[in-house]
Amino acid sequence: MSYKVAVVGATGVVGREMLNILHERKFPVSEVVALASRRSLGKEVFFGDKRLKVQALEDFDFRGTDIALFSAGGATSGEWAPKAAAQGAVVIDNSSFWRMHEDVPLIVPEVNADAIAGYTRRGIIANPNCSTAQLVVALKPLHDRARIKRVVVSTYQSVSGAGNDGVVELERQTKAIFVNDPIEKKKFTKQIAFNVIPHIDVFMEDGFTKEEWKMMAETKKILDPKIKLTATCVRVPVFIGHSEAVNIEFEDAITAEEARDILAEAPGVQVLDRREPGGYITPLECAGDYNTFVSRIREDITVENGLALWVVSDNLRKGAALNAVQIAEVLAARHLKKQAA
Ligand SMILES: NC(=O)c1ccc[n+]([C@@H]2O[C@H](COP(=O)([O-])OP(=O)(O)OC[C@H]3O[C@@H](n4cnc5c(N)ncnc54)[C@H](OP(=O)(O)O)[C@@H]3O)[C@@H](O)[C@H]2O)c1
Repeated sequence: MSYKVAVVGATGVVGREMLNILHERKFPVSEVVALASRRSLGKEVFFGDKRLKVQALEDFDFRGTDIALFSAGGATSGEWAPKAAAQGAVVIDNSSFWRMHEDVPLIVPEVNADAIAGYTRRGIIANPNCSTAQLVVALKPLHDRARIKRVVVSTYQSVSGAGNDGVVELERQTKAIFVNDPIEKKKFTKQIAFNVIPHIDVFMEDGFTKEEWKMMAETKKILDPKIKLTATCVRVPVFIGHSEAVNIEFEDAITAEEARDILAEAPGVQVLDRREPGGYITPLECAGDYNTFVSRIREDITVENGLALWVVSDNLRKGAALNAVQIAEVLAARHLKKQAA
């Protein structure tokens, strides 16, 4: 079996990574179509060595397309995902638009791959927020062993999490500082070069930001509605790779050593945890990798049954494109093949 795949948002940082990962993982494609806005008509993107001409989403007919990977923002997904699904494509969406809809499964394959079966209700499967994806990959095996009650997480999120414009802004501001040019701010509210900004997405009434709310709500939907989670999400001047300092309170006792052994065996996780200088992962080292890395595993003695961890992953990969392609792989292996048979 091979599939016709459309990548919507193919000129963006996530879309380009989707094309790379489909190619790297040899996803069985009969054809790959690159779609973006009219602004990108005539541009080219790469699928392996092959150049693909970008087509306009609004002129595209999804009939005959098996899988549509969307990463073109919430408004585009809100409007176009149902149209693509109605024309017969299964949509795997990276935006936040469909994540909390009751009849749309929200999937991290290492955690809840079986829930993909629910895609038949709307023809749409949602990918979580980048910070949530890597977090639940690390939490799941620990939850299975000792039941998580509460999580406190602080994130250190790279500028590529804000798309192409975020990357360009950090690059330009950094150069401007070295040549004494004025600093331009468009994407971020304050200077991001040589700074950190405790604000991602919009503010909500209770003082949390939407990014922080997403981590709470999505963790409940993917892993367990009983888990309480509070987050502080911070943008940092790193190009690729989100880091998270995580404190977990469990129902049952669990030692750091046991947690390290469990995580070392867990799917999608790589433990890098030596208690010495450099014996931990940093975002620079995780960029381009598939894994969610866990370091600094230690007992938090300020609560009963507490652990503290450092969790790092490539936000464009596990946080977005890789997770979407992994969903497509499960969909193809378990569902579409059967449907075609
Ligand atoms: N970056 C991350 O780490 C990350 C992680 C998880 C989820 N996401 C989600 O993924 C989506 C894309 O993010 P990104 O970071 O790749 O952003 P980006 O670099 O800014 O790329 C945006 C993409 O969307 C396309 N697009 C925008 N408006 C469109 C329209 N009306 N019709 C068709 N295509 C349109 C753009 O095409 P043009 O070039 O033609 O404008 C471009 O290809 C967002 O929903 C984001 O929330 C991102």
